[in-house]
Amino acid sequence: MMATKLFARNFASSAVAYKKVAVLGAASRDANPLSSYLILLQQGGIGQPLSLLLKQKTGLVSHLSLFDIVNTPGVAADLSHINTPVKVTGHKGNDQLDAALEGCDVVVIPAGVPRKPGMTRDDLFNINAGIVKSLAEACARTCPNAHFLIISNPVNSTVPIFAEVLKKAGVYNEKHLFGVTTLDVVRASTFVGQTKEVDPTDVHVHVVGGHSGPTIVPLLSQTGIEFTQEQREALTNRIQYGGDEVVKAKDGTGSATLSMAAAGARFAESLLKALHGQEGIVEPTFVQSPVLADEGVEFFSTNVELGTDGVKKIHPIGATSEYEKELLSKCVPELKKNIEKGYAFVRSA
Ligand code: NAD
Ligand code: LMR
Repeated sequence: MMATKLFARNFASSAVAYKKVAVLGAASRDANPLSSYLILLQQGGIGQPLSLLLKQKTGLVSHLSLFDIVNTPGVAADLSHINTPVKVTGHKGNDQLDAALEGCDVVVIPAGVPRKPGMTRDDLFNINAGIVKSLAEACARTCPNAHFLIISNPVNSTVPIFAEVLKKAGVYNEKHLFGVTTLDVVRASTFVGQTKEVDPTDVHVHVVGGHSGPTIVPLLSQTGIEFTQEQREALTNRIQYGGDEVVKAKDGTGSATLSMAAAGARFAESLLKALHGQEGIVEPTFVQSPVLADEGVEFFSTNVELGTDGVKKIHPIGATSEYEKELLSKCVPELKKNIEKGYAFVRSA
């Protein structure tokens, strides 16, 4: 009884500040007409486990709004039975998209198709570019001031697509658009922890660049941990191609979903805490950045301090070894090409 009263008082006292969060691509991929998969076992993709984690962000989220072109009413009904004060609504089909987005503060977008073995993320461009563009158009007309977290691949191109759509609509705010690259830092901590036999939660690797193969640049020299050249090369390769490892192991049924849900929830939680006024929160994320703007790279991931209005301070790359300089020189041309491809898609439409 006492506990119930206490809980009710705490919730009521700050309820007005909680945020409405939408997840676009929130259901599962079974029966997904845009996917070429026919899945017999339930496969939740990223949206479902991510929504499950966000339903538990009591104190940060007031309303979790789930949108997909399939299955969302069932997922929403299921999640709504979890005893947290976060309200859940499900919206299915494009005629319900605006209702899903109405009043949103944060919109998380894992909508789109995942890779199969042998594909690059760029191979997803033809399908996912159109999906992200149409979702961006809906966000521009319905919740232009929200913060947008883009998970859909290829992130190096989908983030510029989103930016360009918002620019065309006259509502672009560079502080509110984030490519979610958290999985790269999560993997980097895990792999370094395994190699050095230390707790991975104590390992922090600054991963810069973009989110695909050579554009993922882990700055192991900044960890303060000693590596042999052999360890450095093996770890760098594993961090750059960690996504392929999962795609191969899943053998045609998709790419990382559970680790991505954990990484996406970590980034969303960090942003929500910062939006609520917590200070000193830093996460690496792919944003419009001055860091390599001189070299023509408009979007780049480095550590970013988050604040009440999204991006607060973009940190520089910092000190790098000769080996990392070489990695960066391979990252830059690829990243520029990916960014330009995203822009061209919207400009030519
Ligand atoms: P999935 O197929 O399981 O789920 C995607 C969902 O998007 C499906 O439920 C589908 O119905 C939905 N969808 C399709 N078109 C939509 C639209 N117009 N509006 C709303 N929803 C729509 O795929 P997944 O495994 O969840 O992966 C989703 C995306 O995330 C892929 O592009 C994948 O490559 C990417 N991904 C990114 C990272 C990263 O680190 N940024 C990590 C893993 C996966
Ligand atoms: C990942 O890094 O796991 C994602 O980008 C999915 C993929 O295609 O590898």
